Amino acid sequence: MEPALDARRHALLEAMGIDVWVRRDAVVAPAADAAPAGMPASGGDAVAELSALAREVAACTACPLAGTRTQTVFGVGAATARCLVIGEAPGAEEDRRGEPFVGRAGQLLNAMLAAIGLARESVYIANILKCQPPNNRDPQPAEVAACSSFLRRQIALVAPRVILAVGRVAAQNLLGVETPIGRMRGQDYVYAGTGIPVVVTYHPAYLLRSPGEKRKAWTDLQRAKRLLDAAGDA
Ligand code: URA
Repeated sequence: MEPALDARRHALLEAMGIDVWVRRDAVVAPAADAAPAGMPASGGDAVAELSALAREVAACTACPLAGTRTQTVFGVGAATARCLVIGEAPGAEEDRRGEPFVGRAGQLLNAMLAAIGLARESVYIANILKCQPPNNRDPQPAEVAACSSFLRRQIALVAPRVILAVGRVAAQNLLGVETPIGRMRGQDYVYAGTGIPVVVTYHPAYLLRSPGEKRKAWTDLQRAKRLLDAAGDA
């Protein structure tokens, strides 16, 4: 793990009030490459921590969606991604396959990312909800609340340079506002408690229905690209 990323991830975890656990074995019998006793040993292992979080999500029964899902849809991508894409909730195809954005909207999302030079594999993709709402209805506030700590921890572990919120549900819930998405686009936002900029754009499913809006989405994507470029390589 690059030291700069490691430090940023720890700072984010702390800023967000998330406990950073020290592995008992790292304290009792430090391996040659383990963190010094008393120092967090977890930061260098975002992959393992994301896997542990995914197992926690898979066992979640905090809301009634646990009773209707086929499986949870945790997230996919590079644990050290510089760009984190956040959507709304799994649809039928995602519920079946266990991966976010794998249907038609996902194909458009991939193309949108490619337009600014980002391969799907190089970003991290997650949703506000980890379970499909029946009939793809909007997430209910209680469902969002039950799922929110999972997303918060995902964000802290990935420690991205930019968050791309796709669609009204993602943008409003992530930022805790009720502003219409058309007025959120083009505004400067940061994810609470962190300095991570959030770029708001339309959901690819909406763009499939309203292709005339793709030009605006392209403007938003260029904004995300500028922020990524400005953040440098780390
Ligand atoms: N729409 C979303 O918001 N997320 C998905 O994973 C799929 C479709």
